[in-house]
Amino acid sequence: MDVKLAIAQSLSGATGLPAEELAGYIETPPDPSMGDYAFPCFRLAKALKKAPPAIAAELAGRLAPPPGIERAETAGGYLNFFADKAYLAGKIISRALAEGDAYGGADIGRGGNVCIDFSSINIAKPFSIAHLPTTAIGHALSRIYRALGYRVIGINHLGDWGTQFGKMIVAYKLWGENKPVEESTVRELVRLYVRFHEEAEKDGSLNDEARKWFRKIEQGDPEAIGLWQRFKDLTLKEVGEVYKLLGITFESYAGESFYEDKMQAVIDELDDKGLLVVDNGAKIVDLSEWNMPPFLIVKTDGATLYATRDLAAACYRKKTYDFVKSLYVVAYQQNLHFRQLFKVLELMGRDWAKDCEHVNFGMVSMEEGTLSTRHGNVVYLEDVLNASIEKTLEIIKEKSPDLENREEAARAVGVGAIVWGVLYNGRIKDTSFSWAKVLNFDGETGPYAQYTHARCCSVLRKAGAYDKEGVDYSLIREESAAALVRAVAQLPDAVKSAAEKNEPYLVARCVIDICSAFNKFYYECRILEDDPKLRAARLVLTDAARQSIKNGLYLLGLEAPERM
Ligand code: ARG
Repeated sequence: MDVKLAIAQSLSGATGLPAEELAGYIETPPDPSMGDYAFPCFRLAKALKKAPPAIAAELAGRLAPPPGIERAETAGGYLNFFADKAYLAGKIISRALAEGDAYGGADIGRGGNVCIDFSSINIAKPFSIAHLPTTAIGHALSRIYRALGYRVIGINHLGDWGTQFGKMIVAYKLWGENKPVEESTVRELVRLYVRFHEEAEKDGSLNDEARKWFRKIEQGDPEAIGLWQRFKDLTLKEVGEVYKLLGITFESYAGESFYEDKMQAVIDELDDKGLLVVDNGAKIVDLSEWNMPPFLIVKTDGATLYATRDLAAACYRKKTYDFVKSLYVVAYQQNLHFRQLFKVLELMGRDWAKDCEHVNFGMVSMEEGTLSTRHGNVVYLEDVLNASIEKTLEIIKEKSPDLENREEAARAVGVGAIVWGVLYNGRIKDTSFSWAKVLNFDGETGPYAQYTHARCCSVLRKAGAYDKEGVDYSLIREESAAALVRAVAQLPDAVKSAAEKNEPYLVARCVIDICSAFNKFYYECRILEDDPKLRAARLVLTDAARQSIKNGLYLLGLEAPERM
């Protein structure tokens, strides 16, 4: 049984409160000299109507310490528990090894559906580094929620509707030089689109032409729809390559166009519920009472908007997936949009509006000179990933000239470096990239974590077979070894907190803690000792570290090559 749960049960015996609740309060003391587990007694102050230090003293007197706990001591309002180190090491290491690739996960989701709207690229537009955070954070959250027993529906809410597609058609017909769409690239489409805007400055009739073509798309005109579909196919084929590099798949690509025939029902409902106000010919929902500008539902010319489609999408997702949570991983520039969206859903009487959450994030930029192949002001994600892979290959050639499959390793590490770069800090922090930062094998980077994982694998390979049964855990007694055990023990909590806060960086930090602890242990304790008992104890610990780093990396969307 879990040591935490055992402590919670003794506390439950002493207080009469439910063990499960008490287990949730147990913390890890900031300093190991304060014990291995801490119970903050202020949590009980209300229920027991006593001051925390008094509760701590009383509990210390009454408590029967569970197996594995040597003693409990009071420290102010805390009751600190000191574990029997060997017992704890045995529990944690054997749990990590028994659970294997599942270590770090849990079954708190119990199969509940979680919709995660992420990446959500735009058709015939660049897949640029601006979309890197949503892509990386969304992917990491998908894996984290899955590990916690939820069923995740990853949704790429494609930006595939709106007047810009009319513009795209006009531009393509005028300047596309009769080249079939299939033989173009998204970059060429983007250039056509930019040209459209330049020329429309001079010639306003182009905009009328564009509106006419978008109307044709809406009406299902075969030529218009055909071109639109081909722009879409081309874009999806290109982004598919990037998703493949990143190891990402989606359960749904239902984008904005998908809601074309699902908006009227929502508009009618808003109207029936008296929420729709006509304002200068436009239809809006007034949100002034909540200090927000109105939510624009139908424009003066009758056109629907991004907002209208998001309303329809939210309702569709609830109906189709009956989610327990619906996340939108979208930049903070859309904070207001999502506050308005959720408020309108609430006003419509959708009590599940409270289960919708905008998981926002800051901006990414490249430091000057970081990427030489620039296209206007846009930095394509694909270029960044490829440049990173190339640079990593150079480093690997230098550091491990004999490595087989070095292209494979360079891909995993090069891509991982970029992904890690946006996951290592809190979401809302802006990220600025430089190669020196992301490709540093000694810093708190993806490559460092992957390198440490490969180091664990290498030690285990060299060790060959050893006796894993009957390990004497009391031999894990050096401080660096005990610290590594504690770091490994943190993974399950880190994964849970990451989901609670929708912050993958909590997993990234935990991975770095395990890596630093392992490297310290590696330098201070000889793992491949001659004494078979000591050697076995150090090897199982190494194996638990390997497993935890691998799992943490996986949850963040990174691969863990065994050699690099
Ligand atoms: N395509 C939009 C963009 O690139 C993001 C869409 C996010 N999802 C949503 N349901 N609004 O900004």
